[in-house]
Amino acid sequence: MRIYLDNSATTCPYPDVVAAMSENMLENWGNPSGIHSFGRDAYDALRCSREQVGTLLNADPDEIYFTSGGTEADNIALRGVAQRFERGHIITSSIEHHAVLESCRWLEQQGFSVTYLPPDADGRVSCGQVAAALRPDTLLVSIMHANNEIGSMQPIAEIGRLLAGSGVLLHTDAVQSVGKAEVDVQKLGVDMLTLSGHKINGPKGVGALFVRHGADIEPLLRGGGQERGLRSGTENMPGIVGLGVAAGLTHQRWQQQAAQARLACSTFWQDLQGRLDGVTVNGGMEDRLAGNLNLSFAGVESTSLLLLLDMAGVAVSAASACSSGSGAPSHVLQALGLDEQRLRSAVRLSFGWQNTVTEAHAAAEIFADKVSLLRAAE
Ligand SMILES: Cc1ncc(COP(=O)(O)O)c(C=O)c1O
Repeated sequence: MRIYLDNSATTCPYPDVVAAMSENMLENWGNPSGIHSFGRDAYDALRCSREQVGTLLNADPDEIYFTSGGTEADNIALRGVAQRFERGHIITSSIEHHAVLESCRWLEQQGFSVTYLPPDADGRVSCGQVAAALRPDTLLVSIMHANNEIGSMQPIAEIGRLLAGSGVLLHTDAVQSVGKAEVDVQKLGVDMLTLSGHKINGPKGVGALFVRHGADIEPLLRGGGQERGLRSGTENMPGIVGLGVAAGLTHQRWQQQAAQARLACSTFWQDLQGRLDGVTVNGGMEDRLAGNLNLSFAGVESTSLLLLLDMAGVAVSAASACSSGSGAPSHVLQALGLDEQRLRSAVRLSFGWQNTVTEAHAAAEIFADKVSLLRAAE
C-alpha cells in the first residue's frame, strides 16, 4: 500500500483533466491566434478555460491571465507592479513562498524597499501590522492566503478592507488555499491573486493570475501580445484546458473535498497522539488550511524519518516541496522561532480529498513505528 500525504507539493490530476488535455492535443491543436476555423476552435477552448477559472474565483473572465504556474504569476504580480515606478515600498511577510520572497529581494537590489512582516507563533500576520507598516510611498502589499508549510490562513479580507480606496494594490498568493478554502476575489478585496494548476488536481506548468480591471501592471515577457499583452507567448493550450477543467470541478466540489481532507487529517492526528509522546504541532491549530499538519518529533531527524516512511510507502515532506533537498532549515519554521531540535525534526503532512480514514489510521501506525525505531536507535 502506498499512502500519499504530500498534497501541498502536488496533487493527482482528475481523470477528466487528463482526458480533456489529451483531446485538446489530438483534436483541437490549433493556435488560438489563428483566424481560420482551427484557430477559432482553439480560441473557444481558451475562452472556456478563462470562464471556468473566472467562475472559480468569482472574477470576470477578462481578469484572468494564464501563466506557466504559481511562480510566474507571483513574479508578474510583484515585479509587474514595481516596474511601473522607479522607487517605492512593498509590504510582504517573512513566510511567503520563495517566488514572492526572491522577487522582493530582486526588487530591493533595484532600489525598492521592502518590509517583511514577522508572523506570530501561530504563523499569522495581522492587519494591524500591515497598517503600521504603510508609508506614503507604499505601492503594493503581498501576503499569501494560506502558508504552504504550516497552513496558517492570513486575514486577507480584513487587509483588503484596510487598503480599499487607498491606491495601494493588494496581491495574495492563493496557490495553497484554492480548493481547500473559499477563494472569492470580491470577498477578499484583492487586486491580484495567484493560483497554480497542479495544486488543484490539474496539470503542472500552468497557473493563472487574477488582475482586477484597472490595476495597471507591466508585462515581464514581451512578444506577440498574448494574454492581452501581459504574458506574451503562444498559450500552453493543453495545460490551460486542463486547468479549466480542474477549476470547474474544484468549484463544484471544494467544500466536500476540504471536509474529506480535514477528516483524514484529524483522524491521523488523534490516532497518532494515542500512540506517541514527544510530538508537537508547528503553527496554530485554529484557522489552519484543511489537511495540513506540520509536526516535530523529539529525538528524531526528519530526513531519516522521511526515508523510513518512504520505504514503508508513506509520502510526506520535510519542508516545502520546492525547497526540500536544499538542506537549509525552513524559513517559515525559523520565523516561528522554533529551536534547532524542532527545526530539524519537522515533517509536513498534507492530506487531500482522496485520503481515506483507513489510510489515516494506517499512516499513524507506520509513523509511530518508525519514530519509535529511530528513538530506540539514538
Ligand atoms: C504558496 C505557493 N506559491 C507558489 C508556488 C509555486 O507554484 P508553481 O509550482 O505552480 O510554480 C507554490 C508551490 O509549491 C506554493 O506552495
